[in-house]
Amino acid sequence: MEDSSIIIKVLHFCTVCLFLPSAVTHTLLYLYTAVRSGINFSEFSAVGLMDGEQCVYYDSNITKMIPKTEWMQKISTDDPDYWNRETQRMRHRQDQFQDTVAAVRKSLNINGGVHTLQRMYGCELYDDGTTRGYDQYAYDGEDFISLNLTTGTWTAAKPQAVMFIKVWDPKGAKAQYWQSYLKSDCIDQLRKFVSYSRETLERKVPPTASVFQKHSPSPEVVCHATGFFPKAVNITWRKDGEDVNEDVELRETLPNQDGSFQKRSILKVPAEDLQKHTYTCVIQHSSLKEELVLYVNEQQITKDGGSGGWKTGVVVPVVVVAVLVAVVAGVFIWIKKKGSGVQSPQVQTGAELHPLNTPHSDVPV
Ligand SMILES: *[C@@H]1O[C@H](CO)[C@@H](O)[C@H](O)[C@H]1NC(C)=O
Ligand SMILES: *[C@@H]1O[C@H](CO)[C@@H](O)[C@H](O)[C@H]1NC(C)=O
Repeated sequence: MEDSSIIIKVLHFCTVCLFLPSAVTHTLLYLYTAVRSGINFSEFSAVGLMDGEQCVYYDSNITKMIPKTEWMQKISTDDPDYWNRETQRMRHRQDQFQDTVAAVRKSLNINGGVHTLQRMYGCELYDDGTTRGYDQYAYDGEDFISLNLTTGTWTAAKPQAVMFIKVWDPKGAKAQYWQSYLKSDCIDQLRKFVSYSRETLERKVPPTASVFQKHSPSPEVVCHATGFFPKAVNITWRKDGEDVNEDVELRETLPNQDGSFQKRSILKVPAEDLQKHTYTCVIQHSSLKEELVLYVNEQQITKDGGSGGWKTGVVVPVVVVAVLVAVVAGVFIWIKKKGSGVQSPQVQTGAELHPLNTPHSDVPV
């Protein structure tokens, strides 16, 4: 009966979809690719993915291991030599992999043409504490050999691979090395990455905020919040304590180079209204115990208004919070104001101690 088989499939699918997310908690996967064209030249690249997100990259042109996520860059804050060691390790693996390419070509009796060797290996951590590993090679897109993690031996996926294994790993030393690596080192590394990414993704950094006036073409007041994390933020305007919804232009939340965010809200308001009423910009963010209220300082705005530049109306006392954040993070980095490529009004009091302002160029790669 076709109907019942569909129902069974759906039931099976739902068991899988309910079961999987709670079972596999974290994954680490590396993918190596060598493309060999002609006789003597082979391009090598490696990517690493944690939980499906690319976290590192290496290739034979740059010959450096490069962090691809913000949390990855933080590893070098605690361990300055980390990326040098990873680079050395990957250069060694590149050599090994290119030797493997040569060995595969020899065993398959291939002389010219464009061919690829791919290797995919990694480990998985389940919520009950169990782990799983795998290591597979494919030549020109077809399975070639794989590692049996139970026995610590290679399994040939095609007849030609049997001879290859005998020549390439005669004593099974490679198989045993990778069996052990996937069961322990890989899992240790995955756990380390999980803790770094969690620290980064769950962090709370308060915004630095300012209110300033822009003149052209019509008078408007801008409320600008920057340097906050996570992304969700609420910026609203109040006139004599009442919410203002009209003539408000809320801009998109934009990323800063350091992984934090910025957002602005623009209020169009006639100059005489600014004199008659009290306008405030209200910022709500998960890092703040109470909402941040910035008064539109009419005096300062009208006094400074002429030059048309960025005007800081209110300086928010974030020093204490910034110091706390820096202490908790265990880092004190003196940040000089560097061109971040993102327009930002002023580096205000307290921003110097902001640990997340670390420019990317400081990461040794
Ligand atoms: C092939 O590569 C080796 C080492 O990478 C190099 O010494 C040699 O000159 C290359 N030969 C050709 C023909 O490019
Ligand atoms: C690994 O080898 C064992 C023993 O030969 C076998 O029972 C098992 O099915 C193999 N595992 C895989 C994934 O091939």
